[in-house]
Amino acid sequence: MKLESGQVAVVTGAASGIGRAVVAALAARGLTVVAADVEKQALEALGIPGVETAEVDVRDFGQLASLADDVVARHGRVDLVMANAGVNGPRAYTWEQSEQDWRWITDVNYLGALHTVRAFVPHLVQAGRGHVVTTSSVTALGLLGGGITPYAATKHAVLGMSEWLDHELRTVAPGVRTTIFCPGPVGTRIRDAGRNRPAQYDGGSTEVTPLDPAFTEDSLPSITAEQAAEELMAGIEADRLYLPVGPGVADRARDRLRRILADL
Ligand SMILES: NC(=O)c1ccc[n+]([C@@H]2O[C@H](COP(=O)([O-])OP(=O)(O)OC[C@H]3O[C@@H](n4cnc5c(N)ncnc54)[C@H](O)[C@@H]3O)[C@@H](O)[C@H]2O)c1
Repeated sequence: MKLESGQVAVVTGAASGIGRAVVAALAARGLTVVAADVEKQALEALGIPGVETAEVDVRDFGQLASLADDVVARHGRVDLVMANAGVNGPRAYTWEQSEQDWRWITDVNYLGALHTVRAFVPHLVQAGRGHVVTTSSVTALGLLGGGITPYAATKHAVLGMSEWLDHELRTVAPGVRTTIFCPGPVGTRIRDAGRNRPAQYDGGSTEVTPLDPAFTEDSLPSITAEQAAEELMAGIEADRLYLPVGPGVADRARDRLRRILADL
């Protein structure tokens, strides 16, 4: 979709990191942008002229449905929605991750993205045009380190949901396109994601086996949130469905595909 002034965009997880940089990039292209996030103070401090803010917890479908109705009522349209809010938890082996961590990360990363899609896509389908962006990750395309299975599993869920969504949209609303944004490491506050962790997920195991250094040392070079946002702008304009971003990310995807093909 060509990005141009007059269009209306909504971004979740917009008060920090990638979301904030995407809001700035969209606003710089003249779009009306609604920045949605659960962190009120960070939203208030956003400091991007002309951007509207909305305090929304993506775990709650009702809040996203109200936001979608409100945006359409006030602006008469919505063109782009980006389901971007996400969290990561403590590093531990899959079998030592706590129930609370599995639930928190699933509620925000997967159900949050799904709620965003369910709230906004009906408006895009009705208009017959628009663009959906879901933030997945390199961890859905291939392996990177270890100890983050809840995170990686939710990013696979986001990728799968988005791929099937795109498959449906191409038939019933071909003017609505999808981009699955899959960055490698980006310099953001994700390592401090616990700042927005509600008390209902408190508890869980405190003692976990230290990870094998083979996992903790396996990383890729980081890019900035601004670089990631610019890659996304180009990806949206090129209607890319799969959008790996960052050094080495596409190679991790190729490695995984080779392993799958070898077993077929
Ligand atoms: N940073 C990376 O290396 C990286 C790589 C690939 C993908 N991602 C993904 O990018 C997205 C953005 O993360 P980031 O790296 O910018 O981190 P960040 O912590 O800087 O920003 C995440 C934002 O999500 C918000 N958020 C958390 N829970 C929420 C909720 N329940 N409802 C609404 N908003 C909520 C936070 O308040 C924060 O503003 C996430 O989906 C993350 O998984 C990040």
